[in-house]
Amino acid sequence: MISQYREAEPTMIHHVTIQPKILYYGTPVILLTTLNEDGSTNISPISSSWALGRYVVLGIGGGSKGLDNLKRHPECVLNIPEAAMWRQVEALAPLTGRDPVPDYKQALGFRHEKRKFAAAGLTAQPAETVAPERIAECPLQVEAAVRHIRTPEYDGYFAIVETEVLRVHAREDIVLGRHHVNPNAWNPLIYNFRHYFGLSPELGKTYRSET
Ligand SMILES: Cc1cc2nc3c(=O)[nH]c(=O)nc-3n(C[C@H](O)[C@H](O)[C@H](O)COP(=O)(O)O)c2cc1C
Repeated sequence: MISQYREAEPTMIHHVTIQPKILYYGTPVILLTTLNEDGSTNISPISSSWALGRYVVLGIGGGSKGLDNLKRHPECVLNIPEAAMWRQVEALAPLTGRDPVPDYKQALGFRHEKRKFAAAGLTAQPAETVAPERIAECPLQVEAAVRHIRTPEYDGYFAIVETEVLRVHAREDIVLGRHHVNPNAWNPLIYNFRHYFGLSPELGKTYRSET
């Protein structure tokens, strides 16, 4: 069979080698809620995550309050904001629940803030299966239990956090039928090389789509 693919001639498509400081190539933002020592809830914006079946894997840097909290209390809520919430997410960006603020974060302009719901104008809502609170404004809220935290031997700064989904809450207007999310109603906030984006109109769907 003759391959339908042609090798590109080197002159047609030109790539250059770059050394980007970050590789945030466009992933959804998650507002991760975790439990503080005193029972209050911390919020950490993250964008490093992927879902596999009923598990979601998170990438979290050391020195964050969220990671400290997950090590002590292995429960969380993955609150997934919609595109329109980018200003609230950005209000959280320079904040950390860590006190004192680690030196390297101070140098990056971070300041300590314990009351993150108030700082970002967000509303706390009790979760049903875990102790940290949900964020009412987020159309998707995923309650999860931490199953494993791994610090790679090749880089001690990062933690790979494996979570198991316990319960999913979806705002009524993004639900199609009983158990599907309507991709035309759900517009996640995308972190794209440190800029915020929503999704553009649909291009098509996979053959396995049920909606
Ligand atoms: C949009 C956005 C995405 C981020 N993604 C991540 C991430 O994937 N992993 C991470 O460790 N930190 C990420 N950060 C940085 C954390 O939010 C930051 O370390 C913050 O201090 C965490 O709060 P905490 O110290 O109270 O946990 C991101 C920040 C923003 C604004």
